[in-house]
Amino acid sequence: MSELDLKPIRKIIDDMAPQGRTALLPLLHEAQDYFGYIPEAVAEEIAQAISVPLADIFGVIEFYSLFFKHPIGETIVHVCNDPACAMAGSESIYKLLNQKESFKFAGEVKPKITIEVSACLGLCEHAPALLVKGEPVITKDLQSWEEIFEPSRKRPQTILGGDVHRLTKNCGKGSRTNLDQYLESGGYIGLKNAIKMPPKDVINQVKESGLVGRGGAAFPTGLKWEGAANANEEIKYLVCNGDEAEPGTFKDRVLMEDDPHLIIEGMLIAGYAIGSQKGYFYIRGEYLTSYKHVKEAVEEARKAGFLGENILGSGFSFDIEIRRGAGAYVCGEETALFESIEGKRGFPRVKPPFPTTHGLFGKPTVINNVETLANIPIIFSMGIEEYKSIGTEKSPGSKLFCLSGDVNKPGLYEVPFGVTLRHVIEKLAGGMRSDHPLQAILIGGAAGAMADPSQLDVSLSFEELRKEGLPLGSGVVTVFDETRDLRDVLFRLANFFAEESCGKCFPCQIGTQRQFEIMRRISKRVVKNSDINDLEDIIVTMTDSSLCGLGQTAGSAIGSAIKKWPALFSNLGVQREFTGEQND
Ligand SMILES: Cc1cc2nc3c(=O)[nH]c(=O)nc-3n(C[C@H](O)[C@H](O)[C@H](O)COP(=O)(O)O)c2cc1C
Ligand code: SF4
Ligand code: FES
Repeated sequence: MSELDLKPIRKIIDDMAPQGRTALLPLLHEAQDYFGYIPEAVAEEIAQAISVPLADIFGVIEFYSLFFKHPIGETIVHVCNDPACAMAGSESIYKLLNQKESFKFAGEVKPKITIEVSACLGLCEHAPALLVKGEPVITKDLQSWEEIFEPSRKRPQTILGGDVHRLTKNCGKGSRTNLDQYLESGGYIGLKNAIKMPPKDVINQVKESGLVGRGGAAFPTGLKWEGAANANEEIKYLVCNGDEAEPGTFKDRVLMEDDPHLIIEGMLIAGYAIGSQKGYFYIRGEYLTSYKHVKEAVEEARKAGFLGENILGSGFSFDIEIRRGAGAYVCGEETALFESIEGKRGFPRVKPPFPTTHGLFGKPTVINNVETLANIPIIFSMGIEEYKSIGTEKSPGSKLFCLSGDVNKPGLYEVPFGVTLRHVIEKLAGGMRSDHPLQAILIGGAAGAMADPSQLDVSLSFEELRKEGLPLGSGVVTVFDETRDLRDVLFRLANFFAEESCGKCFPCQIGTQRQFEIMRRISKRVVKNSDINDLEDIIVTMTDSSLCGLGQTAGSAIGSAIKKWPALFSNLGVQREFTGEQND
């Protein structure tokens, strides 16, 4: 574009400017979508309109991987390079797409394609995962790059299964559950029941249900709500965390795409309980279908009087604003997510103070994960007794597990807490994909830990997993058979953390880099005798002194593997000894 037509974007900037800096990410998304990148002239206009220095605007653009300062190809393709996809052949897909001679299409020069190697795209069950202009594409038996544009390759269906279907009752039909279908399935009954009670009783019921957060930290949900409810401020916020970017996780994506009303209803009940009138639904930037479906559902709910003023004549008013992330794993961390909504780079804040007293815009805020909020309408429609009738005493209810890697049926499985890992892998996911025996299981995602076959009979509950030193995390179960090189898997995890560290604190900024460098050498079978000790030092330092959960868990999978398989990290287990200066 030689002459940029700024008129359409100028109108949007003018409309949103009164919001101030919080309008920044939505405006950058508008510019990115319209121009395919963010031209400097547009950045300048935005800077002026919202009174933020231009350098600061560029700092934000550069922080987020989905924003580009310079023109890119008409088609952007994201190829996932994290473990589940790497095992399924993502590197051959990358090579295929990069073939220079294939840049001719029906005799013409192919429209320019920008290929981005990406962290987990939340499509691990379809590994190797590919996004073409933000749309998931089936990569099975891909022979040439042209095929990625074939309509038949669009929107792979996720395998859904399990022993119970509470959270996934309306999922897996191949389309979004609309409001009528949701109401027919008993939707918004939980809200009707909850708003008949005083907010305090709603919080007590959540406490009694035993629900704990599903976003990774397992914090008791009722306690969190109570903290914000007790804060003596008029304005409070409720935030739904749909930033899902933990490698191996895709559960929130399925809920947002297939049953967004369930989450909206959960947000309404939470808002009512804590005394909030405004909710933010923050959705991962790469999840375009989730964004579209949540947006449609919010509009339906507003039209039907479930959102807005005086909901169902109760006097309670609440509305939801949707925000899109822009490609930064760290923005899933609650305080980084607030910064992102506020229009800044996603740097985590120092805690305390905690969000329940000083959260979004400095106001008391509850932030909950998508799956946590999806449990809320279930609790208030079926009642606590029935809710707790499945699961274990300390982990009541059901849980979603994301199965990927070397199993026959990678997919999303809902089970009562307390079933065994063996049950999920062997019965539900159909066991190992090939004749090769099981070697290892990554539990909880990149920030999780490695389990070995002797742990297959562990119960999947918070309490039993903790005893085994395994975090439940976001419900990731990635399975590796005996042919897999775990060094390569661990190297990819180290690469992920080195790429995603925001750099705000030194232990993580430097630690993730050093960990990456050592794992890169080890994955190439070039090992120094000191590597294992160095890795252990780095991991302890990152765990104990990093500012946020990213650095605190960046070494946990590698640390667990060192304990189980030390030979992987030493010269005993590798073919070649390191002989000179670092050979990267
Ligand atoms: C690096 C990092 C990334 C995170 N990503 C997510 C995420 O994508 N979704 C999520 O719900 N929680 C994520 N969390 C946890 C959140 O900080 C927070 O604990 C959670 O949203 C609280 O919700 P819950 O109590 O319902 O689990 C992340 C934490 C860290 C440290
Ligand atoms: S731990 Fe890592 S991601 Fe978290 S604040 Fe420090 S540098 Fe940033
Ligand atoms: S999409 Fe590739 S590992 Fe998740």
